[in-house]
Amino acid sequence: MISVIFLLGSLRSELKQVLKIRPSIQSDEGSIREIIDLSFPVFFRFFASHSLSSKGLVLVSETAGKIVGFVKLIEFGGGIRECGCILWLAVHPDFRGCHIALGLVEAGANYLFNHGSDAIFASTQKRNFGSLATFGKAGFRTMGFQDLWRLFGLRVFGLYRNIWYAPGEIVLMKDNAKLLPWAR
Ligand SMILES: CC(C)(COP(=O)(O)OP(=O)(O)OC[C@H]1O[C@@H](n2cnc3c(N)ncnc32)[C@H](O)[C@@H]1OP(=O)(O)O)[C@@H](O)C(=O)NCCC(=O)NCCS
Repeated sequence: MISVIFLLGSLRSELKQVLKIRPSIQSDEGSIREIIDLSFPVFFRFFASHSLSSKGLVLVSETAGKIVGFVKLIEFGGGIRECGCILWLAVHPDFRGCHIALGLVEAGANYLFNHGSDAIFASTQKRNFGSLATFGKAGFRTMGFQDLWRLFGLRVFGLYRNIWYAPGEIVLMKDNAKLLPWAR
């Protein structure tokens, strides 16, 4: 057990030194599709793959020339405010537990805030403890229907559509604390 923890620790610090997060290019597509196939149930694979070529930005995490994770970002007008969404997030199974997802979520959130988003959303299944832990660590908080209703009123239904919310999922939000006293 101790040696496993030690190995993970040293893998984490090695990766930190060589990990690069950058916008994806066309030649990354095969690697991203492989990660999608290894990470999502069949039903979701189609939508995740399709989203690679749809509107938005894909960031990849790369180490030693290998793509080890990706995040898909979109932006939309939430009515009163500009919003961003982390639509898909996945890390190659061989590289999980090394804070790669955390780095991608943080980089994605920074990009969206710098690009004008006031709030950033994500949604995930209740039992996706890895995803919940990652977003929680990156400063996202859980938003129930009433919390969202308070912020968006009737526009909440448009928000659900924009973030591809599926019934039963948990909505997570991170706001730009400097700009948004309304969201407290
Ligand atoms: C969810 C996922 C992206 C996490 O990737 P990762 O690179 O292993 O996550 P990180 O190493 O950045 O972990 C960030 C934090 O979450 C925690 N965490 C990660 N996976 C976890 C799990 N399965 N259970 C509990 N905590 C977990 C980590 O321990 C870390 O917290 P710590 O710093 O306190 O240790 C990855 O498991 C994955 O690709 N899953 C399949 C696809 C998916 O479900 N995507 C999300 C929904 S779109």
